[in-house]
Amino acid sequence: MKTHKIAVIAGDGIGPEVINEGIKVLNAVAELDGNFKFEFTHFPWGCEYYKETGKMMADGGMDELKKYDAVFLGAVGAPGVPDHISLWDLLLVIRKQFDQYINLRPVKLLKGAPCPLKDVKEEDVNMIFVRENSEGEYAGSGSWLFKDKPNEVVIQDGVFSRVGCERVIRYAYELAKKEGKTLTSISKGNALNYSMVFWDKIFKEVGKDYPEVKTYSYLVDAASMFMVKDPKRFEIVVTSNLFGDILTDLGAAIAGGMGLAAGANLNPERKFPSMFEPIHGSAPDIAGKGIANPLATVWSASQMLDFFGHEDWGKKLIDVIEEILVEKKVLTPDLGGNSSTKDVGAEVIRKLKA
Ligand code: NAD
Ligand code: IPM
Ligand code: MN
Repeated sequence: MKTHKIAVIAGDGIGPEVINEGIKVLNAVAELDGNFKFEFTHFPWGCEYYKETGKMMADGGMDELKKYDAVFLGAVGAPGVPDHISLWDLLLVIRKQFDQYINLRPVKLLKGAPCPLKDVKEEDVNMIFVRENSEGEYAGSGSWLFKDKPNEVVIQDGVFSRVGCERVIRYAYELAKKEGKTLTSISKGNALNYSMVFWDKIFKEVGKDYPEVKTYSYLVDAASMFMVKDPKRFEIVVTSNLFGDILTDLGAAIAGGMGLAAGANLNPERKFPSMFEPIHGSAPDIAGKGIANPLATVWSASQMLDFFGHEDWGKKLIDVIEEILVEKKVLTPDLGGNSSTKDVGAEVIRKLKA
């Protein structure tokens, strides 16, 4: 029997609440299948760990994580710990050191999911964002001169390498070709006269290898407007790290909310483990109340199943999420229900087994 070894970093706030349901669901899938199983190892890293030890993860943590097939992450960030420390020393270090340069984020309006847009049908919101996940605006390069002096100066560099741009753009072209969909690049070459001009140039260059893929190129400001006014324009989307971060929260808003938005951080070469997580944060405003929506985490579990080659089960999980949304009987408050995180997790498993 095949065993998938998963490192679990439940993290902070609602992280542990939603990840527990994700684990139960994955175990239920494995049990129903019978030919594979999961082995989960929990790492207690996060802001509590930081408050006790001064570190977000144990020394040698990255070497430890390397031994696993994937990382399943809840959320990171808590009041009292500066966000740039908690995120840079845990989530971002994993994305970067494991070269998870693809961040795959579906923005798909499932049947029954609430949509704040007028006159929009489910099939109109059906995108896959391919977000650059290793460099760009998140390269972590910069300087802070004359700190705390009246003449202080802060510089944050955007780092766009040829290799970094080419590989994510090529991945997106391959995906568009495979799915028979259009590909839209979102950038900002009019104002960012180095980085985004370069991005656009590479988008065109790589495109020469994919004459069958119909492409569009939008400036990020116009793209934000069109995502709201005319979302059906977008199918496969490729964009930079920061633009992808922002646009996928916008995407979440038009596709049912943060409680339904999932993401996969992929190292396509499988040289390092990939990481699966809901895209929402630790939601301190609802943490500890047992009402966080676990469906985003279940969707990210579905992405994990796809990545391990169990696409039939990945699809089944999405179907189950959709059934739950259509029935509207067992939903958390963010989706207008009054059920708990655990109730929704249990409902997923009940429907899987039905
Ligand atoms: P957030 O995503 O945590 O919350 C935004 C809003 O969405 C809140 O009102 C929250 O209650 C709601 N929400 C989020 N997930 C939900 C769910 N599953 N069910 C129901 N409602 C949900 O974003 P924020 O408030 O900007 O950030 C809070 C903390 O999380 C910060 O420390 C931030 O740095 C961190 N953060 C971490 C990640 C991550 O670990 N991947 C992502 C984003 C933010
Ligand atoms: C996300 C998050 C992270 C990001 C933060 C927490 C660093 O917002 O995964 O969308 O910006 O990538
Ligand atoms: Mn984000």
